[in-house]
Amino acid sequence: MAYLLALDQGTSSSRSILFDDKGNIVASAQQEFRQIFPQPGWVEHDPVDIWQSQLATCRQALSKANIPVKQIAALGITNQRETTVVWEKASGKPIFNAIVWQDRRTEAYCDELRAQGYAGMIQKKTGLILDPYFSATKLKWILDTVPNARAQAERGELAFGTVDSWLSWQLSEGKLHVTDVSNASRTMLWNIHQGCWDQELLDCFNIPRAVLPEVHPSSHRYGETTLFGSPIAIAGIAGDQQSALFGQACFKPGMAKNTYGTGCFMLMHTGSDCAVSTNGLISTSACQVGSQPQYAMEGSVFIGGAVVQWLRDGLKAIQHSTDVEELAATVPDSGGVVFVPSFTGLGAPYWVPSAKGAILGLSRGTTVAHIARAALESIAFQSTDLLLAMTRDAVSAISELRVDGGAAANNLLLQFQANLLGIPVIRPKVTETTALGAAYLAGIAVGVFQNTEECAAQWQMERTFLPTMSRDQAGALMQQWEQAIGRVR
Ligand code: G3P
Repeated sequence: MAYLLALDQGTSSSRSILFDDKGNIVASAQQEFRQIFPQPGWVEHDPVDIWQSQLATCRQALSKANIPVKQIAALGITNQRETTVVWEKASGKPIFNAIVWQDRRTEAYCDELRAQGYAGMIQKKTGLILDPYFSATKLKWILDTVPNARAQAERGELAFGTVDSWLSWQLSEGKLHVTDVSNASRTMLWNIHQGCWDQELLDCFNIPRAVLPEVHPSSHRYGETTLFGSPIAIAGIAGDQQSALFGQACFKPGMAKNTYGTGCFMLMHTGSDCAVSTNGLISTSACQVGSQPQYAMEGSVFIGGAVVQWLRDGLKAIQHSTDVEELAATVPDSGGVVFVPSFTGLGAPYWVPSAKGAILGLSRGTTVAHIARAALESIAFQSTDLLLAMTRDAVSAISELRVDGGAAANNLLLQFQANLLGIPVIRPKVTETTALGAAYLAGIAVGVFQNTEECAAQWQMERTFLPTMSRDQAGALMQQWEQAIGRVR
C-alpha cells in the first residue's frame, strides 16, 4: 500500500492529512496559528508561524499513522493563495510578515493604476480583476516599504513566493524556489495565456525578475524533503481552490465546485480554453498535469463561513459555530431579514472594496434566530450570484454543483443552496477535497495513479440535495437579495 501526504496550509490553520492510495484518510492533524491585524483592513501572518505549524502537523499526522516513512510515495502542498512572502535567500529569513490575501492596504494604489488605465491590460494578460486581493501590489508594497528591500531584490538576494513556495523552500532546506501554475496565476504577474512571467506586468508593478520562483505544472517532481527520516518526493503543488476542484474530480469543462470556507470559492473547469468573463468573474489556471494548460472560471466571495464566526464572536448569538444550524432551524424562514455580510468589501461579481455589511428588513418580530437564518442564507445567496454570473457567461451549462469546506456540513444551508440554484447540490464522501487534490497531484507525478480517470473513479457522493422550491419563489428571493446588495454598494 502506498501513502500520500497532503500539506494543506490555509488562512486560519495548517493541516496535514495522510491518504492511502484509495483516497481514504489514514491520519490527520491540524494547528491554528496567529492572525495579525496591525491596522483596520490589514491582515498578516508570521511566515515562521506558518512553517512551524505546518511542520508540527506533518510530524503529528505521521506519528498518528505510525507507518514507515518509506511507504509515503510523495507529498503534495496546497495553500491559501495570493498571500505574499518575501525572504532572504542567504539566511532563509522573511524580511516582513506575510501579507494575507484578505489585506486591503494597497487599495489606493489599485485605484491609481485603474485611473492610469492599466486594468484592461492586466485583466487581458492575467485573467484577474485589478484588486488588492492578488499578490503583485502586496509584493510591491513590501519592496517599497522595507528598508533596502528593493536594492536587495535587484541584486538577486531576495525570494518572493506564495505560501507554497515558502513551504517548498523550507521543506527542501533552501534548495527549491518553485511554484506551480495555479499559484502563479494568482500573483497578477503571470501571463496565463502564454504561461510565463510577463515583462509588461513586472514593469507595471516594478518587480525585479530575480525575486520570482520557477514555475512548473501542478503535478511534477519538484524535489524532495529529508526532514522526516527517509526522503519524501515533493510532487504536487496547487492553490487550495484549484486543488479542491481537482479533489472533487471536476476535470471536464462545465464541472463546478463550491467551497464553503472562510470565504466561498466557486470554480468551474473550462478545459484547455481560457474563458473570459464579462460578468465579474476571473479566469485562472486550473491544476496542470502534463504539458497542456487547463483553465477555470472563478468567483470569490470574501465572507462565507466567516459570517457564522461573526455571529459567534461579534454578536455572541451562538457559542459554537456548529450551533448555527439548530438556531436557524427554529424559524421556518428569515422573516424578511436579509443579511449582506460584506464586512471586507464585496468580491465577485460586484467588486466593491469599500462596501460595508448590512442587516435589512428588521421588524418588531425579528429574533436572533431570524438573523442567524439570514446569515446562513447570505452564504447561499452570494454563491448563487456566482453561479448566475457563470451561467450568463454561458461557457457551459452547469447541471450540478459539488460542494465541500467546513460549512458544507450544514444541511440547511445546502438545501437552501439547491433551492436557490435549481440544480442538485452534491456533497462527496471525502469532504477534505483540497487536501485530496494535492495528494492526487503528487500521486500522479510519482505513478501511484496513472491518470486523472483513476482519481475520478474514486470520487463518491455522500448526499445530494435536490431543489424543492418553485423557480418563482427562488426568483422572488433573489430579487430581494439584489435589492439588498444595491443598498450596500
Ligand atoms: O484565495 C484565497 C483562498 O485561497 C483562501 O482559502 O481556505 O485558506 O480560506 P482558505
